[in-house]
Amino acid sequence: MKNITVIGSGTMGNGIAHVFAQYGYNVSLVDVSAPALEKAIETIGKNLDRQVAKGGLTEDQKAATLNNIKTFTTLKEGAANADLVVEAATENVTIKLDIFKQLDEIAPAHCILASNTSSISITKIGSVTKRADKVIGMHFMNPVPVMKLVEVINGYKTSKEVTETIVTLSKAIGKIPAEANDYPGFIANRILMPMINEAIWTLHEGVGTVESIDTVMKLGMAHPMGPLQLADFIGLDVCLAILNVLHDGFGNPKYAPCPLLVNMVTAGNLGAKSGEGFYKYTPGSKDLVVSAQFAGR
Ligand code: CAA
Repeated sequence: MKNITVIGSGTMGNGIAHVFAQYGYNVSLVDVSAPALEKAIETIGKNLDRQVAKGGLTEDQKAATLNNIKTFTTLKEGAANADLVVEAATENVTIKLDIFKQLDEIAPAHCILASNTSSISITKIGSVTKRADKVIGMHFMNPVPVMKLVEVINGYKTSKEVTETIVTLSKAIGKIPAEANDYPGFIANRILMPMINEAIWTLHEGVGTVESIDTVMKLGMAHPMGPLQLADFIGLDVCLAILNVLHDGFGNPKYAPCPLLVNMVTAGNLGAKSGEGFYKYTPGSKDLVVSAQFAGR
């Protein structure tokens, strides 16, 4: 395993490219948008600077990491020599299936095709390829350079050899893999999203304020972020999409998204990325300011 292709240069894609490159792999980062690729390299540079500033990396290691990353705007150029592809494109089933159909034609026969999906079925993704045994989930957590977990998801036809390869590889890049089978939300989001949804219900019903809900979970349960702040960090649209996958997949009303979450997404308050969710975000400031929508309630 030497050549890794990462598809999608957003938050997850650039983090995944960063980590593989840091551990010496040749990374091809693919995105349809050349400006997005430029921005991704800039972000990786800044995140490497944080590691250098903290003494975790040397300037030479930073330069070597950046040197290990090449950028491409087409799958044909970026995936032709891949040993592993990690797809981290938009969390949209039509887009993902189209990418995997193309990858199946372009990537070498031995290449493993992994998806960083947070909730789309790996079995479904595998079914559009002629190599479902080599299709697997490799679900990294945000921020990728910091978070230790890789959730390794076995599709219905994923072979044991491929799972073992991905488990070994995850350890080789300093991560700790945890295996899950392919059911809605896998493990991480099956457990996380109902907690976030319940926090939103708790706010919606007036049981607690934004601050009190997050404070209880941060200080009472030692979570680094409260569930409402975490929802903003993940993106409220992403949380809603995953809850819908759980709700549709299990047909159980306990997964129905809270109407407040639906309203916020409809209104365009998507969390940190849109500048406002449960909190209001100002570029350059780390202060947590509760959104005016929730003042006093
Ligand atoms: N790249 C490199 N290093 C980074 C980084 C990045 N993108 N972001 C943060 N860091 C480093 C910082 O430099 C700092 O390093 P040291 O420990 O060496 O000092 C460390 O991470 C902590 O960062 P900060 O001091 O800036 O801030 P913090 O202490 O508040 O931690 C946090 C930030 C790591 C994000 C922390 O708040 C946290 O762990 N939050 C929860 C994150 C989480 O739950 N992620 C999972 C989300 S769910 C998901 O991703 C999957 C899904 O399917 C929805």
